[in-house]
Amino acid sequence: MTSLRVGQQLFERLAELTGDGVGITRASYGSGESLALDAVETVARELGLATDRDHGANLVVTLHGSEPELPYIACGSHLDSVPQGGNFDGAAGVIAGLLVLGRLRAEGFVPRRPIKLFGLRGEESARFGKAYIGSRALFGELTGVDLSAKSSDTHRSLGDCMRDVGAEVERIERGERLLDAGRVFVWLELHIEQGPVLIARGQSIGIVTGIRGNIRHRAIECIGEAGHSGAIPRWLRHDAVFATAELMTRIDHHWRTLLECGKDLVVTSGLFGTVPEEHAIARIPGHVRFSFEARSQSHDTLEEFYNLFRSECASICEERGVAFNFDRRIDSGPAIMDREWIERLKNATKSLGIPAEEMPSGAGHDAAVFATAGVPSAMIFVRNHNGSHNPEEDMDLADFLEGVAVLREAITEAAR
Ligand code: GLV
Ligand code: MN
Ligand code: MN
Repeated sequence: MTSLRVGQQLFERLAELTGDGVGITRASYGSGESLALDAVETVARELGLATDRDHGANLVVTLHGSEPELPYIACGSHLDSVPQGGNFDGAAGVIAGLLVLGRLRAEGFVPRRPIKLFGLRGEESARFGKAYIGSRALFGELTGVDLSAKSSDTHRSLGDCMRDVGAEVERIERGERLLDAGRVFVWLELHIEQGPVLIARGQSIGIVTGIRGNIRHRAIECIGEAGHSGAIPRWLRHDAVFATAELMTRIDHHWRTLLECGKDLVVTSGLFGTVPEEHAIARIPGHVRFSFEARSQSHDTLEEFYNLFRSECASICEERGVAFNFDRRIDSGPAIMDREWIERLKNATKSLGIPAEEMPSGAGHDAAVFATAGVPSAMIFVRNHNGSHNPEEDMDLADFLEGVAVLREAITEAAR
């Protein structure tokens, strides 16, 4: 079967297994994610590749090398998704790696170094608030507090959900390094571009220079005072909706000013609302809950903006007689991709005659964790229509195969 057919069938199979009626749901450390790992593993075995699960319960597919003691080439991405997401965020990188390893094996190519494909779990922060859980677990970067975070749907703890799928939670909680960064020659991750830049440029492929970091809160509460909407005059109100609306307007102004100063920054409050059991047309809202997320390529910009955010919260408390309760702040640092590997990927695109430019990644990726752990890391972006984290993600298979060809060229070159 051609690579096109294997890839197409596997994307279709994943959509069939994890479609939710609206989009795709492969909850981190949940059933959809496990179904996806199993589906990829089945095809890997059909292609004659060795498969295993690592200490963090991620899928690992191996093409053995003639010199197994050499540091191995690692590729892949994640197999979970946001709720009602698309079929390509994460899965494209895993299927790309599978097509590369499958083709090399079919051609009888024996690499010097082993080549490993990772189908990682838990990259999305939607379920537990923390991003990159599957890769962080491997590098000893999860704490007991992280593992006690409750899932947004079942309220089971992350540790329990990880244990359910076979992860060695006690070792993870001790911060053991379950994967030795020194054994990994390179981390190569193909991913759909989740913004509109490649489409605007008319190019199928981008080479990533760096990945934005972020500061997040899953749920901040603004506590005001509930009351009768007709009976209380403006000057005696402590309306939590007006207070949070003013907060958002103020941080939007700071955001714009920082952009005008040339800073890199994006800000989002994706979960935002009054408490459904309490809210009513005729009731002054006494309680608003919202998420906070700021992302930047710059650690300093993130910190400065976060301080501004907190000081605006304090000033609104004083002016409007409300209070803000903050849950745990969650950080993911920005990361820079490896210059030598960026050049290698660019050389691969050149030798294949594919025009490709360097570009930063606004979205987060496991490559940030590998890079921070000291593994030289690089990423290939593939053009994708309709954005991402929604059911309309749309990648042309022709573009995907160009990305696969670039990945294969770079891996083959490094594996000889
Ligand atoms: C991962 O998809 C992210 O939130 O950037
Ligand atoms: Mn995502
Ligand atoms: Mn992703």
